[in-house]
Amino acid sequence: MSQERKDYIRKLAKERDAVILCHYYCVPDAHDVADYVGDSLGLSQEAARSPQKTIIFLGVHFMAETASVLCPEKTVVLANPEAGCPMADMIEAKDLAARKAETPGVPVLTYVNSPAAVKALSDICCTSANAVAVIKSLPGKKILMTPDRNLAQYVQKFAPDKELLLWPGFCPTHHRVNLKEVLELQKERPRAVTVAHPECQPKILAVADFIGSTSGIIKYCAESEREEFIILTEEGVLYPLRAKNPGKVFLTPRTPMICPNMKKNSLEDVARALETLSPVVKVPEEIRLPALAAVERMMAVPRDNG
Ligand code: 13P
Ligand code: SF4
Repeated sequence: MSQERKDYIRKLAKERDAVILCHYYCVPDAHDVADYVGDSLGLSQEAARSPQKTIIFLGVHFMAETASVLCPEKTVVLANPEAGCPMADMIEAKDLAARKAETPGVPVLTYVNSPAAVKALSDICCTSANAVAVIKSLPGKKILMTPDRNLAQYVQKFAPDKELLLWPGFCPTHHRVNLKEVLELQKERPRAVTVAHPECQPKILAVADFIGSTSGIIKYCAESEREEFIILTEEGVLYPLRAKNPGKVFLTPRTPMICPNMKKNSLEDVARALETLSPVVKVPEEIRLPALAAVERMMAVPRDNG
């Protein structure tokens, strides 16, 4: 039944001239029907690059917005309109405008996990895959980095000549990793390498052997000679990790790391999105153009930290 549904989706995507883009954190069924599975940066690049006139996004709202910002001529459909991002909701344009008024002249660097209206008030964006390179590319000492304070504290270490002003946002899925559980697992499996996403808290990153974006983690595990890995990011990555590395063991802390919003994109949602070409996510021009400037400045900086 499920395979029939997947075949139907693939056939419909072709008929509709649609590309299906999926974030790694979505459910395995979503990976299976996608043309491209990637991290936030990879998905933005693929949205811009793909020739199809319709993009079906399996991810969360800010990702579909970014695709709309980059490709105004394309129809961008978010498979499940309920899929939002609590971290993106921790910053609003009016609050950023107020903070900017308090820190005149300080450039604003905004993580792509944010609303388009916030990007529109920012000088440049970053993802977890290019944050260090983006920080280093900016002139001046002070930078206001929004909304993820954990990512900001992580990249601060690579840019000692900069002073990053923080925003009090975080990803609930990565922020709640429990240090005691990680330490216990490390003790039980002393041969395991611990890999973590920079959205985790500094105390978690302090006990990790490798820190990288979602695609950076996947690449690291594939290239490593080691056989056991403790994975400290959303558990959607386990599907490609296990499929591509059958000889390796991937362990997770006792409390699962699940982003409930990413998991909302079901096969039924994809089928409905293709049948109805809705719900469309379209960023209005007055927000799109300044947001595009910030995203394009980011895309001109090569990624450097995985
Ligand atoms: P990356 O895809 O950039 O690794 O970000 C992780 C994330 O939380 C996406 O919502
Ligand atoms: Fe937002 Fe975190 Fe979910 Fe990514 S994993 S969509 S940052 S809540």
